[in-house]
Amino acid sequence: MNDPLQPLTAMLVSRELLTEDTALFQLALADSRGVGPNGMNHKPGQFVMLSVLGAGEAPFSICHAASDVPILQLCIRRVGRLTERLFELPTGSKLGLRGPYGNGFPLERMVGQELLLVAGGLGMAPLRSVLQAVMAQRDRYRRVVLAYGFRHKDEMLFGPELIALGETGHLELHFAVDHPMADQPFTAMHGHVGQLVESLTLDAAETTVALCGPPVMYKGTAQMLREKGVWPQKTFMTFERRMSCGIGQCGHCTIGYRYSCKDGPVFSAWEARGLREAWEQEAYNDASQ
Ligand SMILES: Cc1cc2nc3c(=O)[nH]c(=O)nc-3n(C[C@H](O)[C@H](O)[C@H](O)COP(=O)(O)OP(=O)(O)OC[C@H]3O[C@@H](n4cnc5c(N)ncnc54)[C@H](O)[C@@H]3O)c2cc1C
Ligand code: FES
Repeated sequence: MNDPLQPLTAMLVSRELLTEDTALFQLALADSRGVGPNGMNHKPGQFVMLSVLGAGEAPFSICHAASDVPILQLCIRRVGRLTERLFELPTGSKLGLRGPYGNGFPLERMVGQELLLVAGGLGMAPLRSVLQAVMAQRDRYRRVVLAYGFRHKDEMLFGPELIALGETGHLELHFAVDHPMADQPFTAMHGHVGQLVESLTLDAAETTVALCGPPVMYKGTAQMLREKGVWPQKTFMTFERRMSCGIGQCGHCTIGYRYSCKDGPVFSAWEARGLREAWEQEAYNDASQ
């Protein structure tokens, strides 16, 4: 019988620094068990459990849309033991990989809608996979808006590709920075992404939102979107918790009676309304901002 916790083998193909402490990792799936011609055949918003020998295992969002290329892209911030190790490994190193796990964003429910993607800091990683999937079928959606907040210009993730997408006219881009700089090569609002979203003119009844960022950001933004008239059933956000098994067996990631790994990590604001823990700050620190 297959052990669901037994990882596949993956190989580190490349690591490209995006900011001082965050890099894009490309992994080749060296083990074909459970892996189809489209790589892991994941949905945007799903994650994998990545293990490094001697350092442990941790969840990371898949940061690209599924394609024919059997390469997995993860955008990882160096914050602790496992991630430090990942930043030191030479290319060609073997890693363990389980997944894809989680429910992902319900893109099929967004068809025909105006889409608002709201990213705070590292929240851009899972939303990049949403953005790529939407752009691959652009005619199925109406207006597509990205509101992205980060601390300052050097912390922007995927800047060149976002700006290039904005120039095609298929994506409306809005940035917010905490610390504006004279030499930043883009226009941005001075403030946080919640203020940016508040300033946008939306067709609220026709808008679906995908939101990802630290608790301090999603809490206020979800509330404000509701006040703007966006339905809580159409505001989807990730509630990320410390995880161990990733498949609903260990109970580490519970949010009330739900498991973040199995029932989430994406929940609608409507689903989360009765889950007090979903909105609590102390579930994790602000490492993701
Ligand atoms: C579903 C999901 C998707 C994720 N996607 C990404 C991603 O795409 N890129 C990425 O860089 N990180 C992502 N994370 C967070 C990542 O799993 C943690 O940063 C990782 O466990 C850190 O491991 P470490 O051993 O290096 O750090 P540790 O030594 O375990 O922790 C270092 C610091 O990070 C904090 N931390 C640990 N786990 C989490 C967590 N789950 N959420 C927030 N803070 C945490 C700790 O409180 C501590 O301050 C995701 C987490 C979840 C649950
Ligand atoms: S991580 Fe084990 S139950 Fe969710």
